[in-house]
Amino acid sequence: MNNAVSGFSKLSKEEKINWIATAYFSTPQEAIQLLKNYWNSDEKIQKLHDEFIENTISNFYIPLGVAPNFLINGKYSTIPMAIEESSVVAAAAKAAKFWSTRGGFKTTVINTEKIGQVHFMFKGDALKLESFFNQTKAKFFADTESITKNMQKRGGGILDIVLKDKTKLIPNYFQLHATFETKDSMGANFINSCLEQFAKTLKEEALDYELFSASEKDIQVVMSILSNYVPNCIVRAEVSCPINALEEKHINDPQEFAEKFVQAVQIAEVEPFRAVTHNKGIMNGIDAVVLATGNDFRAVEAGIHAYASRNGQYSSLSHAKIEDGIFTFWMEIPLALGTVGGLTSLHPLVKLSLEMLEKPSARELMQIVAVAGLAQNFAALRSLTTTGIQDGHMKMHLNNILNQFEANEDERVLIRKHFKHHVVSHSAVVDYIENLRK
Ligand code: MEV
Repeated sequence: MNNAVSGFSKLSKEEKINWIATAYFSTPQEAIQLLKNYWNSDEKIQKLHDEFIENTISNFYIPLGVAPNFLINGKYSTIPMAIEESSVVAAAAKAAKFWSTRGGFKTTVINTEKIGQVHFMFKGDALKLESFFNQTKAKFFADTESITKNMQKRGGGILDIVLKDKTKLIPNYFQLHATFETKDSMGANFINSCLEQFAKTLKEEALDYELFSASEKDIQVVMSILSNYVPNCIVRAEVSCPINALEEKHINDPQEFAEKFVQAVQIAEVEPFRAVTHNKGIMNGIDAVVLATGNDFRAVEAGIHAYASRNGQYSSLSHAKIEDGIFTFWMEIPLALGTVGGLTSLHPLVKLSLEMLEKPSARELMQIVAVAGLAQNFAALRSLTTTGIQDGHMKMHLNNILNQFEANEDERVLIRKHFKHHVVSHSAVVDYIENLRK
């Protein structure tokens, strides 16, 4: 079937849905109804969501959960998490509770520098370009004053601009590499606006620079864009306690547990196949809070994974040690987050999430997000090194299977009772339901 369409974006929402329903569904009315079932009954809220992106046809729900009892630097927080994966929120809440009686999480923001670059081609004498840059540097700041004025009032702005010679990598390739402080905003728009002005100034000033030859004056700007790699925007989260304080239900021998835990982290430090999954577990916590607070989880993901490879091999983001009878587990990660601007003032549930977190600054949010990541990693490693991951996972997954089979309340009670003492697997549950229904 050829389902190409022209002028789709100009159709109304109803027309778009009708077109999709007839082009792709054998029962178009059912598809239309399903899409409409997910519309918000409050027209204002629906309109808001319709306008976040283009060609909106409905809303895609994922659950918003909360993990309470996070003791961070002596203060309790309830952390909102938007995530579809069963057991993530439960694991976070369990880890929070565990550490709340063992000193809690300690966090520090190490630095908050953001980065942006103008990538350009210059055919000529690199030394002349350097003199030109040094002479023009103040003009880059002056020409962006109207953009930076407000940010400066809030204590941010452009920190520095340097010229980088990248001609060893690509002939004629240079960069303006700029660093920024963007305070409580993630800063993408601010940075990109500054960069585009730098690019304009660069081209214009080069035309007037008398020492440049005709070809040197002709600077070709390839692109101006922020970097989502922010290795100088780092937050640290840590937990620690005496080894014997680790004892609890699944941890009978705390010394053995601590040693195995440290080994599990060491494996992720040296073995990329394990590191990816280990870090994925960390991202379960990080993405969920980043999403709930209206931040860009793709940017955070890209930046964090790049950081995990900064020494040439993909490695664990977290680390653990035992020293003088003290177990310490920590993580340092780059996080460029905002608590003003973007979705933070638009999406009603994002606003609610930020209010639940007591309206954090971007620095505070960095710490909360890092803690969610570390807690998730702790929960995963505790399960992996003790009961195994499937125990908890499959119990949560049991719910999904029951929903899939539309089990009624009586069936649910019987099934849950049975699987308290039997290993949960998809096929075991399906067999059991089928037997019940015979
Ligand atoms: C599953 O979403 C995450 C884990 O695989 C993380 C890990 O293996 O550390 C449990």
